[in-house]
Amino acid sequence: MKMALVGFGNVGKAVAEVMLEKRELLQKVGFEPTVVAVFERDGSWIDEKGLKLQEILSKGNSSPSWVEGAMAEERIADLDCDLVVEMTVTNIDDGEPGLTHIREALENGKDVVTSNKGPLVLAFPELMDIAEKRDRILLYEATVGGAIPVFHVAREALLVNNIISITGILNGTSNYILTKMTEEKVSFNAALREAQEKGYAEADPTYDIEGIDAASKLVILANGILKMKKIINDVRIEGITRITPEMTELAMEDGYLVKHIGYVDRNRIEIMPRLIPRSSPLAVGGTLNVISLKTDVAQDITLIGRGAGPRETASAVLGDALYINKIRKENK
Ligand code: HSE
Repeated sequence: MKMALVGFGNVGKAVAEVMLEKRELLQKVGFEPTVVAVFERDGSWIDEKGLKLQEILSKGNSSPSWVEGAMAEERIADLDCDLVVEMTVTNIDDGEPGLTHIREALENGKDVVTSNKGPLVLAFPELMDIAEKRDRILLYEATVGGAIPVFHVAREALLVNNIISITGILNGTSNYILTKMTEEKVSFNAALREAQEKGYAEADPTYDIEGIDAASKLVILANGILKMKKIINDVRIEGITRITPEMTELAMEDGYLVKHIGYVDRNRIEIMPRLIPRSSPLAVGGTLNVISLKTDVAQDITLIGRGAGPRETASAVLGDALYINKIRKENK
């Protein structure tokens, strides 16, 4: 399999690092891709015979394979590769540059794995149509819940089930703020600053606290698992900015926690602060995410895990890449 990495920030680098770290294991399961290109913002490393990820990580753009100014949007279409892994930064205003990368890759016969929410929030049905017409696979496990393998579980392990609804905490930053306000009575703004210092918050933290980021993930869950055709404007969104330490304290006295909960079923799609019993499986603290699937056969399945972080995201990205590798080998 020939593979290209698009985006070499924290997530792209973590994917390269984990591939090196797990080389033996990956060989054992038959995943030995030739990485033919790694695209950065201002140029790329290109070698059709195969790049050395170790060299790229250590030498950066002083590596001999660096081509200044070679941009993904101009190169992807003609690139001789089977799988494009799109990891540029999320932009939910117009989805770019990720949207063009994914379109170009699918249109030109390449499978795609992405960690980028923007293109899916804005163009999920269109991208899935292109993938189907071209007989390509588009996977996006890393876009929701970081490391939590919710799409894998829904697609594989729960195949016999009808999934009725999805409930969850989908934003680590807002969960961290609510947890800090509840447990340590810190003010909203102080808790937000801490979350930003930890590197969890979006570049624009209003996306976290106003529920935009969680609503984006809810749209991807609705489309990807419930096979709906939702866009972000369909989501009823209420952020957590009006929550005060006094409210979280009152809730606690009654045995409840204030949590920012996303919910989707056939009739309703919303993200809003809700009271959750302290004993509920949804009552996870800190930056954790939780996703609960209500199904007809298995009943409730709840997955808890880290919703952000480069290595955690790399776990999801590589899980998708391995899945595609397996399917393509089986179909040969
Ligand atoms: N800002 C996001 C969060 C990062 O806090 O969950 C992961 O999408």
